[in-house]
Amino acid sequence: MNPESLALDRVLSIPPYPPGRPIAAVAREFGLDPKKIVKLASNENPLGPSPRAQQAITAGAGGASLYPDFETFALREALSRQLGITPDRILSGAGSSDHIILVARAFLEPGTSALIPQYSFASYRGAIDSVGAGTIVVPARDFGIDVDRLLEAIDDSVRVIYVATPNNPTGTRLDRNSLQHLLARIPERIIVVLDEAYRDYLDPSDRPDTDHLPESRPNVIVLRTFSKIYGLAGLRVGYAIADPAIVRVLRRLQAPFSVGALAEAAATAAIGDVDFLHKTRSLNALERERVAGALGAAAIDYVPSHGNFILLRVGDGRSTFQSLLRRGIIVRPVDNYQLPAWIRVSIGLPAENDLFLSHLLEVVSSASNAVGI
Ligand SMILES: Cc1ncc(COP(=O)(O)O)c(C=O)c1O
Repeated sequence: MNPESLALDRVLSIPPYPPGRPIAAVAREFGLDPKKIVKLASNENPLGPSPRAQQAITAGAGGASLYPDFETFALREALSRQLGITPDRILSGAGSSDHIILVARAFLEPGTSALIPQYSFASYRGAIDSVGAGTIVVPARDFGIDVDRLLEAIDDSVRVIYVATPNNPTGTRLDRNSLQHLLARIPERIIVVLDEAYRDYLDPSDRPDTDHLPESRPNVIVLRTFSKIYGLAGLRVGYAIADPAIVRVLRRLQAPFSVGALAEAAATAAIGDVDFLHKTRSLNALERERVAGALGAAAIDYVPSHGNFILLRVGDGRSTFQSLLRRGIIVRPVDNYQLPAWIRVSIGLPAENDLFLSHLLEVVSSASNAVGI
């Protein structure tokens, strides 16, 4: 008997999440020196974790034999002070991935559906499929969210809308007016997940005031993560801002102790590391502009990005990904987003970006020579 046949059909039909290839795996596969491999595949912080977070991890290591604080009191207190909201509006979790799934489990079931814009972050689809709900995909406009089409697509079956701004993999964002227009027209009976994983890469003046949004719109759940600008992707920690009643609902479903003690300590320390955040944002903005400029100069199409990555058109995304991999540069193919001609590259350190650009130009030009263009 194949034990797989014991699993639910809807589970077997979920495509596995395709993560960025880890450095160690690529080194093994291609016989490369791991120190020479550049990973620009998962939108991580090239500066590493905030130094304050690193100190907190070291200081907390001796306590790792104890279960973490179930309430993540210290983290929620620190966030409460930073955001000016009460701690009962904050739900910590094992990264935003945790919250994305919790929302699907709490508000969706077979016969209901969720609405997502085309080219949305892949985990939404996985979460929706896992609970047997339907997905309505709303076609994008210029790679971004078509707000009016999204509103038109709402029908009685829709219970949840997932929207990321800035969005992965496109890097597009909803400006303040479009967001207001959208939220004002979504019926209150629908949960809106506003995924702000890349919020901190926006210029502060471009960030909508979403900290307080659930106070006036209790159907909105705002997701934030420590995986990106805070440089803590390996620890798995994020949080949701929501109405206290929604926080209580989601908590019922969450695995106990989903945020580890070191993850909580590191995140709590990282919140106050303003210099590190500033340094990361400035480096990203400078390098993103430089990479975009080089792509433009080489006549390579790209989507202007508000995140720490760029989506660019290379002709054959999968083979470009493979060629770069052999050269020790890990990027992300995006054919799973129905973008077979494109790849996504994270913004790294200046030397990493230079290496990516020089290899990319070689790979792309040898590919176009091979097909005689
Ligand atoms: C738009 C978006 N949301 C959420 C996540 C999940 O991040 P994490 O689970 O590490 O917090 C990612 C990760 O790439 C993302 O791109």
